[in-house]
Amino acid sequence: MHYIAVINQKGGVGKTTISINLAAGFAQRLPTLLIDLDPQGTASAWASVASRPLPMRVSHMPAGFDANRPVAEGDQPEVVIVDCPPTLDSDTVIQVLRSVDQVLIPVLPSPLDLWSSLRLAESVEEAQRVSGKLQARLLINQLEPRSALSSAMEGALREFSIPSLSTAVRRRAVYRSTAMEGLTVFQVGTNGAPARAEFNAIIDEVRT
Ligand SMILES: Nc1ncnc2c1ncn2[C@@H]1O[C@H](COP(=O)(O)OP(=O)(O)O)[C@@H](O)[C@H]1O
Ligand SMILES: [Mg+2]
Repeated sequence: MHYIAVINQKGGVGKTTISINLAAGFAQRLPTLLIDLDPQGTASAWASVASRPLPMRVSHMPAGFDANRPVAEGDQPEVVIVDCPPTLDSDTVIQVLRSVDQVLIPVLPSPLDLWSSLRLAESVEEAQRVSGKLQARLLINQLEPRSALSSAMEGALREFSIPSLSTAVRRRAVYRSTAMEGLTVFQVGTNGAPARAEFNAIIDEVRT
């Protein structure tokens, strides 16, 4: 089973966008469950407006994370994606870090944004000392279409203790338009193709 948390204490970095599309992409290949841990329930609200059936199951757990529950109910998912609340200071997040195999940390492509995740990196390293299996990777989000990472950002990434996936998520209107309809980029026509290719590449990296 793949057990992956999408985590960052900052809001607006793309946790929910990435969780939803990552789960939908995985669901093309394996039974997938998306767990919404945000008390604001963004992912659940999104799922509730879905105009077409979603490829994955969505479960809202506002009361906190129970590592045993998701696999105890219903079909056994082979992939569980956890969309985390924008905080580090909760038992929920500590529980998540202790339970999952991988964390993906969305960051915007600016060194300042990266350094603001330093405290998160420390929490992840602490969890890695307890649980040797935990793997952590940064995922750059909202990269300008057609432009490369700035050299300042590349330098900052090299100094950061957590490695990044080589695929980045570009800034694309289709991520916003699908979210507004409660859909994912895996459920739209050709205008979703570049975004799907991006998420399939991310999934290939995550699975290795
Ligand atoms: N790659 C992207 N391209 C375009 N818009 C994006 C992208 N990623 C996120 N957004 C938009 O940015 C806003 C914040 O994203 P969201 O996933 O809600 O962040 P978080 O869950 O970390 O608070 C949303 O309006 C979302 O549609
Ligand atoms: Mg969110």
